[in-house]
Amino acid sequence: MHRLIIAVDGYSSCGKSTFAKAIARRMGYVYIDTGAMYRAVTLFALEQGMYGNGTLNRRRLYAALPDLQIDFAHDGEGGQPEIRLNGKAVEDRIRSGKVADLVSEVSALKPVRTRMTDLQRRMGADRGVVMDGRDIGTVIFPDADIKIFMTADNDVRAMRRLKELQQKHIETTFEEVKANILKRDRLDKTRKNSPLRQAEDAIVLDNSHMTPEDQMVWFEGILQKLQA
Ligand code: DC
Repeated sequence: MHRLIIAVDGYSSCGKSTFAKAIARRMGYVYIDTGAMYRAVTLFALEQGMYGNGTLNRRRLYAALPDLQIDFAHDGEGGQPEIRLNGKAVEDRIRSGKVADLVSEVSALKPVRTRMTDLQRRMGADRGVVMDGRDIGTVIFPDADIKIFMTADNDVRAMRRLKELQQKHIETTFEEVKANILKRDRLDKTRKNSPLRQAEDAIVLDNSHMTPEDQMVWFEGILQKLQA
């Protein structure tokens, strides 16, 4: 079989990256976390002092975009791709609460999306890639070989996210986490530029009641159909 482009889109906290990583391992492909790229742009704006009185200086950010380098080192520990911002590893820093709070606004900006679109298309140019995000099957690779749209029950997603945060010793409540997830869904779905939506030819994976193993069995079924 020729090397595929596999797009995984969907809602926040429904296990996209866990699933996409597992598929990439199964296929021997590169995994690209596009959410991490929008987080890296947000981190860049924060670290360059582009927020004055809590407001982003868009003009400064736009001027810096052409020279902004975001890539993934694929020789990191445990074979996990490591995101780099201007050559420096930033995986830990892009997961901070501050970045999480600001990334929705940054990812809605057209010039930011245009630059990320360009980088993401280049990352997938050699094919053999699993890319996860919100607009991979609709905008980045509308001709992807497999498009998966992931979703899960709101309470299930909130519970999964709560457990993740508790493991990191971040104090919060189920209600807070659920409200945050629903807010992010709304922002992702209603923004003007590349909103989250299911591609017409995407296959829906609702993993509310599925283990990671169940999801791989499901994926093997998709592969078989493709090869038939
Ligand atoms: O998947 P994540 O939570 O790490 O994504 C971070 C933010 O980036 C989230 O607010 C949605 C946005 N995003 C996007 O707009 N387009 C993508 N392809 C991926 C993420």
